[in-house]
Amino acid sequence: MAEALNPSLTRRDAARLLGAAAAVAAVSSRWTARPAGRPAGRPAGRRADVDALLRQLTLKEKVSLLHGGADPASKGQAGYVPGVPRLGIPEIRLADGPAGVRVTASATALPAPVALASTFAPDLARRFGAVIGREGRALGMDVLLSPMTNIIRVPQAGRNFETLGEDPLLAAALVAGEIRGIQGEGLIATVKHYAANNFENARQTIDVKVDERTLREIYLPPFEAAVQAGVGAVMAAYNHVNGVYAAEHPHLLTGILRDEWHFGGWVMSDWFATHSGAPALTAGMDMEMPFGVNYGGLAAAVASGQLAESVVDTAVRRVLVQLDRFGLLGGGRPRPSPDPAGGARTAKEIALAGAVLLRNERDLLPLGRADLADLVVIGPTAAGPLVGGGGSARVIPASAESPLTALRRQAGPGSRIRWATGVDLEGVPVPASALALRRAQRGGTPQAAAQVDHTGADALPAGSSWTWTGTLTAPETGDYDLRIQGAGGVPSFNGSISLTLDGVKIGSVGALIGGNSSLIATSGGLTNAGATVRLEAGVARPVTVAATGVPGTPLQVRLAWVTPRRRQEALREAAALAKGARAALVFAFNEGTEGADRAALALPNGQDAVIGAVAAANARTAVVLNTGDPVLMPWLGGVCSILQMWYPGQEGADATATLLLGGASPGGKLPVTFPARAEDLPTAQPERYPGVGGVADYGEGVLVGYRHFDAHGIEPLFPFGHGLSYTRFQYGGLSVRAAGGGLSVSFTVANTGRWAGVEVPQVYLGPPPGPPVPMPPRALAGFARVRLSPGERRLVAVAVPLRALQYWSDGRWTLARGRRTVHVGSSSRDLRLRQDVTVR
Ligand code: BGC
Repeated sequence: MAEALNPSLTRRDAARLLGAAAAVAAVSSRWTARPAGRPAGRPAGRRADVDALLRQLTLKEKVSLLHGGADPASKGQAGYVPGVPRLGIPEIRLADGPAGVRVTASATALPAPVALASTFAPDLARRFGAVIGREGRALGMDVLLSPMTNIIRVPQAGRNFETLGEDPLLAAALVAGEIRGIQGEGLIATVKHYAANNFENARQTIDVKVDERTLREIYLPPFEAAVQAGVGAVMAAYNHVNGVYAAEHPHLLTGILRDEWHFGGWVMSDWFATHSGAPALTAGMDMEMPFGVNYGGLAAAVASGQLAESVVDTAVRRVLVQLDRFGLLGGGRPRPSPDPAGGARTAKEIALAGAVLLRNERDLLPLGRADLADLVVIGPTAAGPLVGGGGSARVIPASAESPLTALRRQAGPGSRIRWATGVDLEGVPVPASALALRRAQRGGTPQAAAQVDHTGADALPAGSSWTWTGTLTAPETGDYDLRIQGAGGVPSFNGSISLTLDGVKIGSVGALIGGNSSLIATSGGLTNAGATVRLEAGVARPVTVAATGVPGTPLQVRLAWVTPRRRQEALREAAALAKGARAALVFAFNEGTEGADRAALALPNGQDAVIGAVAAANARTAVVLNTGDPVLMPWLGGVCSILQMWYPGQEGADATATLLLGGASPGGKLPVTFPARAEDLPTAQPERYPGVGGVADYGEGVLVGYRHFDAHGIEPLFPFGHGLSYTRFQYGGLSVRAAGGGLSVSFTVANTGRWAGVEVPQVYLGPPPGPPVPMPPRALAGFARVRLSPGERRLVAVAVPLRALQYWSDGRWTLARGRRTVHVGSSSRDLRLRQDVTVR
């Protein structure tokens, strides 16, 4: 079939069509690209005259609106900007984040955004956003520091769980939906981190060397979609981009964001990411967060003639326009009541929808009655739920059930489900025989102490402050997990209960970023931090434990260890328990967090050995993954099934049990490629990641994620878009025609199995022969999400936007003309239908 496409479209049409990537006809026909207007529900009749307001502000007041400050009545949120009460300009509270509202109070912990990305459902993204939007408003917030939409480029990057996958078209569709959801509830969304902030190591200084085409085609589309969806604020990233800090980058902040995309909101810096005053402001960075380290001096810069006041006015106007748009000026608007039950329902629905069934040999899943009559469950995250990732995305849920409890509850009478940890994360208190310690309370005299073990009834007084110093001597040589465990520490960015070995801090309980705090609590509910260290038999090592308590809560502190022997015992116990059982279920995890990348792609804490031993003991083994991103799986061939649940949020246990027991069929698809080997990655060379001499060369260009694997013919462990179901789907009847400057791709999908299920058909587009620029063999050009009953067949129509047919060259989007192949399939490597079209 030959189709003639109209290349003469305006930039405005192109932008509209970019939005149309999300307009998947079969799923969300209500979706339309709405210009940046007023959010739903804004009370009428209070339109403020922003210019008049601006005229009444003193220079000092204007500057006070351009940087953060200390909140006199903090709710534990990340940022605060004092208002100008005399003119009805309210104070603004800004809270993280991507998986729920992060304040001191509990909030709905939604599944990690990577799970949302696995749904391939912009409509669910809107509902995800609406939960956070309403709750943020209810909790006293005005601005949300989310969504994060940096493309996953490095599979071991610490914040992959917070973002929306490796494909720009998918991320763009989802981020737009989420922003509509957040802002529809009256909370101002902040899309972050603009731009090219794709890994954590050296994130504050790294210089990303990236060509313009790669920026435009891979890293910027989700930000452009966010602007199209009317996002109120943009957060400038920490890193440099081509030699200039992102937070003072005229090309990114003014050239692209304002002049090309016509962004009408304001730009704030990431926390402590501002490096100058007047230059940053002039470049287009309106607000310094969280304090006015640089912007505090703007008034002086104006007074000395270094900065024109009109530049200050422009930035202030951008902030005021958004406050007005959201009805926050002149007395504000009523706040809604929280809706925890509604939040929980959506959290569960998304946890179910984002689950990805990676493998299911012999149809081991869902588990049957016979399996449940004699099931062995292994793993610490089966008993202590891993609700979400760490860092600024961490949310405190009111409660979260463990998968083990949910499984037992749902399996009901007649079931027998036994558990073993397999991986001991908790250990035992370091015995007195290994310690020579003295303990001192602040202001007191040191006294001999046998151990550090103050928990439960033996907790130390609330608000007290202690130090233990001395030596630790191991009885035998080996790798020990040294753990500092605690609760009731005074809130602190760096953690207030810490462990130091040889003068180096190796564990810090409750540190927001870094500090080695685990996301998995001990069985007694203590926060668990620490590191694995090599200890030689009989060698005394200097050790210090320090703890400062918060008033009102008893201070609990324990110094524990997992000895090499205990580690082996835990593994042996798990394998022995699995041996005679009808089926075994291993829960495995990694802990994604901000501020550091994972050291390796492998599962941490010796989990590979445990899974291997359990699989060797029981041929009917399934693995449930609670990881935020791809992991290697040396045990893959030995297990029947793998269910990727990501960090599934507060309702994750219920959703996991529902899927394992067949109450619903998994229908999520991978938004990121799982590599078979670290050396297969596009970022395997150190110049590309983590960078050499402070520079990370994005030399792979547009070949990010599956584009790289396809271009180089490398077999991934699991490809982008992969995800099985308990049922089967058949594709047929492909038809492609020109529509709206892009393509309309239609085909049928039939459920030929025995289960109701969800399929996510994906449309990929190939390059023309002899492409004008290097192009990947296939790029995602559209998708749908369809729910089908057994025997049901549905006609699916997917809109491929004009932008998907274009490439960036010489400062503009250009059609890649010629014969191009449209593929339709169940993943990027399971392509079922194809048709050639000619793009003219
Ligand atoms: C993170 C941002 C976050 C901010 C406020 C920074 O460290 O990079 O994503 O919004 O802190 O918590």
